[in-house]
Amino acid sequence: MADDPDGGMLSWDESVFRDEHVFEIDYVPETFKHRESQTDSLTYALRPAVRGSRPLNVMVRGPPGTGKTTAIQKLFDEVGAQTSDVRTIRVNCQVNATRYSVFSRLFEGTFDYEPPSSGISFKKLFGQIAEKLVEEDKVLVVALDDVNYLFYENEASDTLYSLLRAHEEYPGAKIGVIVVSSDPALDVIDELDSRVQSVFRPEDVYFPVYDQPEIVDILGERVTRGFNDGVISRDTLEYVADLTADSGDLRVGIDLLRRAGLTAEMRASRTVEREDVTEAYEKSKYINLSRSLSGLTDTERTLLEVIADNDGEQAGDVYEAFHEETDLGYTRYSEIVNKLDQLGLIDADYAEVDGRGRSRSLSLSYEKEAVLDRLE
Ligand SMILES: Nc1ncnc2c1ncn2[C@@H]1O[C@H](COP(=O)(O)OP(=O)(O)OP(=O)(O)O)[C@@H](O)[C@H]1O
Ligand SMILES: [Mg+2]
Repeated sequence: MADDPDGGMLSWDESVFRDEHVFEIDYVPETFKHRESQTDSLTYALRPAVRGSRPLNVMVRGPPGTGKTTAIQKLFDEVGAQTSDVRTIRVNCQVNATRYSVFSRLFEGTFDYEPPSSGISFKKLFGQIAEKLVEEDKVLVVALDDVNYLFYENEASDTLYSLLRAHEEYPGAKIGVIVVSSDPALDVIDELDSRVQSVFRPEDVYFPVYDQPEIVDILGERVTRGFNDGVISRDTLEYVADLTADSGDLRVGIDLLRRAGLTAEMRASRTVEREDVTEAYEKSKYINLSRSLSGLTDTERTLLEVIADNDGEQAGDVYEAFHEETDLGYTRYSEIVNKLDQLGLIDADYAEVDGRGRSRSLSLSYEKEAVLDRLE
């Protein structure tokens, strides 16, 4: 490059980015296209809360990266702008995967400080949240985001039961629940205890994957805000959208744009080209894998490593290796196998084994290297 004496990277004040922040994972977009009907349904369900009564419960479903969390965030922002009589709290169940920890988050959202770490009983924790609600005459709307994680830990029924029957124990407590699941294989209602099923009849709101033209439209907006003018051509953007549509997860596209921008800068280019996108895709395509891994406990990570080292082996043999490393028993082992299977990290298929009846063989759903690299 003629005006670049170093010949290498762009200098610090030169960049393809106008605002790199718009490609970050926690960025809430200004516009939210192609989700009008879902937004309308959610608004409809919450309308009673704004008028001071209990809202309709909602079940939001849809594959990863289809705008579910964003929809909730935007909805809660809007409610907050309209009234201070509704308390909205979104709980990330990937992080808060037990009833106790969900209610700790609700406590924090109610009082603006964490509950005492000395461990107060669940009953006390719940009581304080509910009493405050009644005392202030507010309506509480709880979004259990990524609720599938509560199911994996067998905590979903208890959590929902407590929330949905709160008014019986604390007259005047008005609580609405939005459950958000990103596991297409999970039948939320079916998996709940019958005592919960009898009180939980939510409105159903579905978020389908975006198609390629919708992705072009949505990512086009990020490009305008995030890149300088003329950095990426329409053709290249279409290519990004093709790759994104393959996975169905909009996160892949956003990550691709950011990485491709960085790749372009690395080779001192002021434009993002197709090759930059192709190179970036080698990392971006694993964004969902990285997200799933980030929520695992140490024990779960250990089992995944053991499965990687014994890819395709029988469950019994894998258990031997796992037990040797962790000393844990078979029941706990089976639970973790099921969770990893539900997360789409492994395939646990039943097969006939000579003389031993039916047994499961465990194999990784992703390439071994990709998994091990990201576990480090
Ligand atoms: N219609 C849209 N317009 C602009 N950005 C969007 C839109 N839908 C999703 N996004 C962006 O895509 C990314 C993923 O969206 P979001 O986190 O809401 O997905 P999700 O359905 O909650 O996924 P998961 O099930 O994995 O939690 C976010 O960065 C979000 O800003
Ligand atoms: Mg989400």
